[in-house]
Amino acid sequence: MTEANGNPGSPAGRFYLTTPIYYVNARPHLGHAYSTIVCDAVARRKRALGIETWFLTGTDEHGQKIERSAKLAGCSPQEFADRIAGEFRGLWDRLELTYDDFIRTTEERHVRRVQHLFATLRDRGYIYKGRYAGQYCVSDEAYVDGPPGTICPDCGRVTETVSEENYFFKLSAFERRLLEFYEANPGFMGPESTRREVISFVRSGLRDLSVSRTTFDWGIPVPGDERHVIYVWLDALANYATAIGYGSDDPKDQEKFRKFWPADIHLIGKEISRFHCVYWPAFLMAAGVALPRSVRANGWLLFDQGKMSKSRGNIVRAETVHEVLGADALRYFLLREIPFGQDGNFTFEALVQRYNGDLANGYGNLVSRVVNMVHKYCGGVAPEAGAATPAETTLRAHAEAAIAVFGPAFDQLNFSEALKSLWLLVAATDIYLTANAPWKKTPERSDAEHAALQARVLATAAEAIRVITALAYPILPDAAAKVWRQLGQGELADAAKNGFLIHLAWGGLQPGTKFGEPAPLFPRAEKDAVERMQKLEDENNRTAVEAASANGVSEATIAPAAPPAAAAIQAAEAPVPAPAAPAAAKKATEPLAPQASAAAPAPAAVEAPASVIEGAAHITIDDFAKVELRVAQILVAERVPKADKLLRLEVDLGYEKRQILAGIAQHYEPEKLIGRKIVIVANLAPRKMRGLESNGMLLAASLEGGAPVLAGFLEDVPLGARLK
Ligand code: MSP
Repeated sequence: MTEANGNPGSPAGRFYLTTPIYYVNARPHLGHAYSTIVCDAVARRKRALGIETWFLTGTDEHGQKIERSAKLAGCSPQEFADRIAGEFRGLWDRLELTYDDFIRTTEERHVRRVQHLFATLRDRGYIYKGRYAGQYCVSDEAYVDGPPGTICPDCGRVTETVSEENYFFKLSAFERRLLEFYEANPGFMGPESTRREVISFVRSGLRDLSVSRTTFDWGIPVPGDERHVIYVWLDALANYATAIGYGSDDPKDQEKFRKFWPADIHLIGKEISRFHCVYWPAFLMAAGVALPRSVRANGWLLFDQGKMSKSRGNIVRAETVHEVLGADALRYFLLREIPFGQDGNFTFEALVQRYNGDLANGYGNLVSRVVNMVHKYCGGVAPEAGAATPAETTLRAHAEAAIAVFGPAFDQLNFSEALKSLWLLVAATDIYLTANAPWKKTPERSDAEHAALQARVLATAAEAIRVITALAYPILPDAAAKVWRQLGQGELADAAKNGFLIHLAWGGLQPGTKFGEPAPLFPRAEKDAVERMQKLEDENNRTAVEAASANGVSEATIAPAAPPAAAAIQAAEAPVPAPAAPAAAKKATEPLAPQASAAAPAPAAVEAPASVIEGAAHITIDDFAKVELRVAQILVAERVPKADKLLRLEVDLGYEKRQILAGIAQHYEPEKLIGRKIVIVANLAPRKMRGLESNGMLLAASLEGGAPVLAGFLEDVPLGARLK
């Protein structure tokens, strides 16, 4: 493999990096912000190293999942995508992320170039027509091996059966070439766990891949055969090339593509490595295009022990942290706290602890002390350090070690280590300052000696701060810009454009430089910071759920439809269990109470334990006919904030959609319910819980002493079908 493009010393001096493009079916949260912030930090450092950098992000807007989300929201897929793409872009702007281009896969430039790629693959003999009959996970937009009813191994949702004419890509032809490529380019993918997983996937054998669909429309038409739309992952992966000009006739675009391709880093989440490390290189090999230099997978941001995701209902929004502690605090926390490549827990408590410890009391306090003393004792002008004593030599050695360690660690995406080493310099500077106490006039020092000490110590400490600030800039751009001004170094944004990091070395602070006014950097977070953030999230959740229930628009990841659920996969109980008398005690003529709770025996359609049936009074067929049992499919399942047991479900009855609240949250993960076909009591009187209306009830077998089990079907059943 060629030397990584754009690394210092690389002849090309260019660097191209990309984030995954985000699905527009859910609003941006911290999990998405994480990848984008990592890329922003890398891009800022590369630019500050004088490397011409291109940082691409964007949104993934086609496919069945988005089409269904839009339908559920009652608008066109384009309107739906416009809205959510706007939210992503708006958030990146608010966080001042320095992307160079934001690609949307519905843009004309992308559509045409993807068609060009498809035609190229076909012309080169790598695409043929066939028939796909198998399982498909709409949530992951991925083909899954197995019989009908198979659960997607990645997300745990029920897959759908697809049987249609498709175009196939000859992925099987690339098995050996891919393995050879991985072998020859050990740095192509990382971390090691990703590399192992991908290699073992390819070794287990590659089958040709279906790359078109005919049963829905929301995608890029196959050129020359518009009944088909191009498989959304082929469409999406191509963004990395189309955005910089691949497939364009315009010479300017072609020039740009030549300049920046191949990408230096595709930064991705670990769950999409197969698409990036297997399919994407194979498509490129087939098209005769150079392969990206590396794919790097980040781990997941966890909250409350689970992957942060809208369908789990455990997301935190970047806006909340931004509002309370600022964007730099968020950037610092994500890069310092989580070793890149591993999963990491996000808690407000840990965030505030890091903020106060490292930023407010650490770096911020150090800067404020030194800048204030330079104003107080040196007339606001950088003093002349004079001859170094061993203390200055030691601090300088610390700083030079930080410069030597930080860069390589950062460039390996080892941000946590890089920052750890830099904060050792913060601590060393603090210790140096305290040990030499330039504010303390001792009797044994003459005035001249004291002035010399003040000058030496403050000049040395200020120089250490300059080094810390220069290195920390990609992670703390806002604070670094303020400190740069306070140190009299001018505008850091301009310095970054001029590659100020190239020549970073000890001794850059010129004596006589006029310092700027001191300004607070990281005011200490008070005790209530955690509560404030929590409150902002709770308020947001509440408004979101209320808005969703009012409009029938889902706030959660929107569900795919699914084939018949394997029977009885999850447990259920009624929303608020009203104490129900055992059926045995009811009079023969008494109709089945519509408010029957999960504790009550399951209605006729679900077999109840013999012990419950024994001695049960009979009801007439007319009694039974009063209960309208129908087949429904769960489209959305999410936790109701502050209600441990409740889930808010949106179910599709075929003829209408409705909201049901179910007290089953303790028995399963909401996202695993999505797509499941269940039985509901459709004519139960509406009731309100936690301010939300519930329109119906799920049916489940109520097992003694155990979790209830949802009623389901082995065969496929149409939505809305009545159970009699
Ligand atoms: N659209 C595809 C990617 C196509 S790239 C050609 C997709 N979109 S996504 O919106 O579901 O996810 C985008 C990225 O966000 C993924 O890399 C995913 O890992 C990341 N994250 C979403 N939630 C996350 C966390 N909780 N933690 C860390 N990253 C996570 O997949």
